[in-house]
Amino acid sequence: MSEAESPTAIGPQAYAGWRATALGTITETIEQRVVLDMMGGLVGIRLLDVGCGDGALICAAAARGAIVAGVDADSTMLTAARQRMAQAGFEVTLREGRVEELPFPDDSFDVVASVTVLCFVGDAERAVREMARGLRPGGRLVIGELGRWSTWAALRRVRGWLGSTTWRAARFRTPGELRTLLQQAGLSVTAIQGAIYYPPANLFARLLAPLDPWLGSLTRLGAAFIALGAVKP
Ligand SMILES: C[S@@+](CC[C@H](N)C(=O)[O-])C[C@H]1O[C@@H](n2cnc3c(N)ncnc32)[C@H](O)[C@@H]1O
Repeated sequence: MSEAESPTAIGPQAYAGWRATALGTITETIEQRVVLDMMGGLVGIRLLDVGCGDGALICAAAARGAIVAGVDADSTMLTAARQRMAQAGFEVTLREGRVEELPFPDDSFDVVASVTVLCFVGDAERAVREMARGLRPGGRLVIGELGRWSTWAALRRVRGWLGSTTWRAARFRTPGELRTLLQQAGLSVTAIQGAIYYPPANLFARLLAPLDPWLGSLTRLGAAFIALGAVKP
């Protein structure tokens, strides 16, 4: 799939540009920490990242000892992920495919993760059922999604109204809606965590990021990023 046809119309260059900003670096670091914490110990764990993008999470998971695989609908993202993993010296299985029909057999993984992907998927119920199918019994699903009640969501909605196809199509969910999605797929939700409480600007990120873990321990209201952990019975 070409970059122009990317499901999110984001593409690896835009992602690299975002990570080069202070806002991008600080925000991605916090989100990745929340997701990795929720995954728990990774040594020898078979991990699938669904919608792996340019491979930042699988690279961090491989550095923690996971046996990693990634799937994404956008081949340009997969090329960037392959380059990142090769540069870091990690092995990875990468497949082009869609979350609604994952190219892996049942019960293949100990952990399945998916970060800011369901918000761009038309049939999220089916996508989560597919992720659950790929997990072995007792395996863990960890998702990170865009929270509905945040300054980030408000601004992105405005960008959608102003013509951004990515943000016009995106769906922002509450923690309760995300919990229901996972439960409908037969999973037991074990953790829900909010993160990214500052507005989307470099200065706010620099000043307020240190407060993020404390705010996350108090409330999920205002969180731009909602992470959930769940177990397959
Ligand atoms: C916002 S990016 C997130 C990438 C990565 N998870 C991260 O957090 O850096 C969303 C990713 O999901 C992928 N994607 C969107 N819809 C998809 C689908 N239906 N099946 C598989 N991948 C999809 C996009 O190609 C893109 O790489």
